[in-house]
Amino acid sequence: MPIRALPCSIVFILGIESSCDETAASVVENGETVLSSVVASQMATHGKYGGVVPELASREHLRAIVPVVREALERAAVPLRALDAIAATSGPGLVGSLLVGLTYAKSLAFARGLPLIAVNHIEGHIHAVVLEARHSGTPVELPALALVASGGHTHLFRVDENFDYTLLGKTRDDAAGEAYDKVAKLLGFPYPGGPIIDRLAPHGNPRAVRFTFAKMKGNALDFSFSGLKTAVLRWVEARDLAAGIAVRRALARAEPDASIERWLAVTPPETLDLLASFQHAVINELLTRAASSAEQIHARALIVSGGVSANAGLRAAAHAAHLPYPVYFPSPGLSTDNAAMIAAAAFPKLLRKEFAGFDTAAEANLTLA
Ligand code: KG4
Ligand code: ZN
Repeated sequence: MPIRALPCSIVFILGIESSCDETAASVVENGETVLSSVVASQMATHGKYGGVVPELASREHLRAIVPVVREALERAAVPLRALDAIAATSGPGLVGSLLVGLTYAKSLAFARGLPLIAVNHIEGHIHAVVLEARHSGTPVELPALALVASGGHTHLFRVDENFDYTLLGKTRDDAAGEAYDKVAKLLGFPYPGGPIIDRLAPHGNPRAVRFTFAKMKGNALDFSFSGLKTAVLRWVEARDLAAGIAVRRALARAEPDASIERWLAVTPPETLDLLASFQHAVINELLTRAASSAEQIHARALIVSGGVSANAGLRAAAHAAHLPYPVYFPSPGLSTDNAAMIAAAAFPKLLRKEFAGFDTAAEANLTLA
């Protein structure tokens, strides 16, 4: 199938993201203007299980993919025939979920004679920031240090010209968002745990419980969050909290979107202190390692992205740290999974004509760098 020649002025890319529990589609113009960004969340489906159930995720993606893509094109007022490329996440993520978006992208690209661009989900998160910075007229200067912290990843990358990535450190066990989700589940809060802990943390004392992190052997820039999770478990086991946890579990099941006042009413001060201390420990870990790797590579900017970058405490701490380079966070809507970041990451690939074949596989463990 012939591929159309690249236009030189306006480029429209349709991005499709389905790596985990969000079906998303977006049209982005010239890698910097989001014309539409539609995200169909499966939270209601997975919430009652306290985490993502892969089989249910694939089924939900299958249901959502056609209407979500249609809505993204309609909201952008860009017809299929005006597109220049179709980009889809090819990994990392849940294979059954990835396959839905990737296969749909392949069929659309094939039917329309459009180039297909495969995007790494983690690179997508980085481009959520690159896109907005470019749009606001203050492009991220390179080399930059990127901290990507989400439910599946906690990685530090050096980002060089042409979006060349070098992995500097990563988690050896749980991802930061996963630690939030597990701690929330343990205490009876709804899934995902990050947003609710973030909102409750300011009501507790962050210095009430002291968490210590083991010194990392080998690469000092690696993270480890499983010890923190175990320390929280021990703290809970040492107290008589079962009744409160049961009340919150019931509320989480009945009303996962209950107001913060309702959650505060069923969370005693001691538990609020624990949440505040847990959040303080996570933020400290993330920022300390990000700042020391940024220093090591003489970074000209720090990019913080991925679901955990939505954290208000992390944002406040990063700004209060007065780091000697600009710190970029995505706007809240682009912090968690979305497809605008996938379309944006595809833009430099389109310029370089880095296209994917129709035999491109969905890869659960796809690496970047
Ligand atoms: O990037 P994302 O949407 O999906 C993955 O690629 O994993 O990230 C989801 C993760 C979840 O673990 C969720 O608890 C966490 O991001 N998260 C947060 C916040 N909002 C979402 N963690 C801390 N604070 C938040 N405000
Ligand atoms: Zn993500």
